[in-house]
Amino acid sequence: MTDAPHDAARRSPVVVLASGTGTLLAAIIDRAASFDAAFTVVGVVVDRPCPAVQIAADADIPVVECILQEHPDRATWDTVLADAVAAFAPDWVATAGFMKILGPAFLHRFGGTVVNSHPVRARERRQQRGVADALAYGVKVTGTTVHLVDDGVDTGPILAQRIVEVAPDDTEVTLHERIKIVERALLPEVVDALAARGVVTDGRKAHLK
Ligand code: GRF
Repeated sequence: MTDAPHDAARRSPVVVLASGTGTLLAAIIDRAASFDAAFTVVGVVVDRPCPAVQIAADADIPVVECILQEHPDRATWDTVLADAVAAFAPDWVATAGFMKILGPAFLHRFGGTVVNSHPVRARERRQQRGVADALAYGVKVTGTTVHLVDDGVDTGPILAQRIVEVAPDDTEVTLHERIKIVERALLPEVVDALAARGVVTDGRKAHLK
């Protein structure tokens, strides 16, 4: 079986939200550049000046800054953010190191189409919210979870997970960097699968088609 290249005109439009160094954004852009990609990155929205802006600019992708402090309150910012994303008319929104919680207005507009990568595997343990928590808990394996975004914090239906082993001498920095290597492969893969085939959800259970 060979993969047929997707007609560029039919590639699913994706908006990426980012706040940080943008390495996940770069991985998504790289995947979109492959001949058989099912999606194209039509816009990037950031909530602060950050290296992700330059990564998007280098790829000729329009960037919009939507900064919380420039708005009277969080609800207004959330609506402005939703408007900024809506202007790109995306099928899917990927949060790639976006360090703000999406609010009700945003999720009302885009609920069910937002995918996030979270750098911890065992989300069933609520005390393990992040890499530092997982290390402090003494886990021997952790990993990454790619999930749909709902109105909780990293609680939406899980789309894919990968395991990363914890080394005895790991620090938060070294462990997070190894997890990010896995995230940079997994998140673009999931975005591509969503764009190509979509997802079926049944309560907490989600299956990529
Ligand atoms: C990733 O680990 C992501 O899961 C977390 O922040 C990191 C983003 O890194 N929320 P980068 O900004 O893409 O390099």
